[in-house]
Amino acid sequence: MSNRTIVTMPGDGIGKIVLDEAIRVLNKAGLNADYVVADIGWEFWCTEGNPLPQRTLDLINKHKIGLFGAITSKPKDEAFQELSPELQKKDLVYSSPIVGLRQHFGLDICLRPCKTYTGNPLNFIRRGPNNSIEEPKVDVAIFRQNTEGLYGGVEWSNPPEQVYSALMTHPKFSHNFGDAPKEEVSVSTRIFTKKYTERIIRAAFKHARKYSYKSVTVCEKPNVIRETSGMMYKMAQNIQKADFPGIELWNTNIDAQMMWLTKNPENYGVIVAGNMFGDIVSDGFAGLIGGLGFACSAQYNPETGIGVFEPTHGSAPKYADYPVPIVNPIAMVESSCMMLDFIDEQNIATNIRKAVADIVREGKVQTYDMAKMQGRADVIDKGAASTTEMADAIIEKL
Ligand code: NAI
Ligand code: MG
Repeated sequence: MSNRTIVTMPGDGIGKIVLDEAIRVLNKAGLNADYVVADIGWEFWCTEGNPLPQRTLDLINKHKIGLFGAITSKPKDEAFQELSPELQKKDLVYSSPIVGLRQHFGLDICLRPCKTYTGNPLNFIRRGPNNSIEEPKVDVAIFRQNTEGLYGGVEWSNPPEQVYSALMTHPKFSHNFGDAPKEEVSVSTRIFTKKYTERIIRAAFKHARKYSYKSVTVCEKPNVIRETSGMMYKMAQNIQKADFPGIELWNTNIDAQMMWLTKNPENYGVIVAGNMFGDIVSDGFAGLIGGLGFACSAQYNPETGIGVFEPTHGSAPKYADYPVPIVNPIAMVESSCMMLDFIDEQNIATNIRKAVADIVREGKVQTYDMAKMQGRADVIDKGAASTTEMADAIIEKL
């Protein structure tokens, strides 16, 4: 028995594969912890009508720390079809359990670091002067507001009368949409609140100060989305002026940022954004450092101390049932390192990160994505490392 219990949520598809490997790495690295497996994902939607059962929420509430693999989400109609027949009679609506988890526990701070691994064949390169090839070092920490905005879930098709009449009082709504029949109108809201906007901005600045980044960039679209993006930028200006004058505040629009990050990614340090733009810009930067096999994340509530750590990738169902698993476990392993930072086990995190960096730099053990192969079962015969071999290689370095 240890004095720490970690709730593991393998979920669906390759979530189950990579989580097992990450736990193997944690054990070998010397983390003293017990693990309790919690139910989440498609199976529990089909059999219980709830992909995020209460018993899972109870476990997280009790133990505070979760490691999450990935879940599968399917469109409304398919979700209904796969429900067990007796549940089809009930009026159940599927919603993503990972989004549900974030909202239930108010895991409003999402951190997604993207840092170049030396020697990674997937690193972004560009043409320099005289036809030279440059490989800029990316070192970015993206702070994504994780509970509000466009993913807040406040949306309607054919909105209720009260909502519709309230919308009609807005001159832009009545002018631009007033002619459309109510039944043909769909609305997804983008709600930002001061409290949570301030929390994500402060988390970004604190991180910049702690790790000596010279700038924080607000990546939104305040020139067009005036109220929400505008509020975030205005608040960032005030917070920077009052409390972080030594750190530069930059302001980019999400569309321009997606262009700039493919031109001069080395210019950026900490980035802060709302939920959807944070999701987009973090995938963009992840693409420069090796893609989904490398993209890790932490999400936590600074008040309750509850944190859930997960790779950015999904359940990649097409790779879930190979006799020998081929997917890259590094994103999950790096997400567990973020958990280790959170629970003050930095020494173990540093050792694991160093082991991963060594493996990538040496280039002898590469999963199919690193070897630039098409993801198919035969990649192992062609010399790619399996998921287990990659984890073994990391363990051997420890
Ligand atoms: P995905 O991330 O599961 O896979 C996209 C592609 O990325 C894969 O086909 C594969 O080529 C590559 N990939 C992903 N993880 C990899 C790894 N560890 N190593 C090497 N290559 C990797 O996204 P997709 O296909 O859009 O969605 C599949 C399912 O996952 C859907 O049901 C979706 O809703 C769900 N999803 C869940 C997320 C979560 O649990 N947080 C996040 C994103 C998607
Ligand atoms: Mg995403």
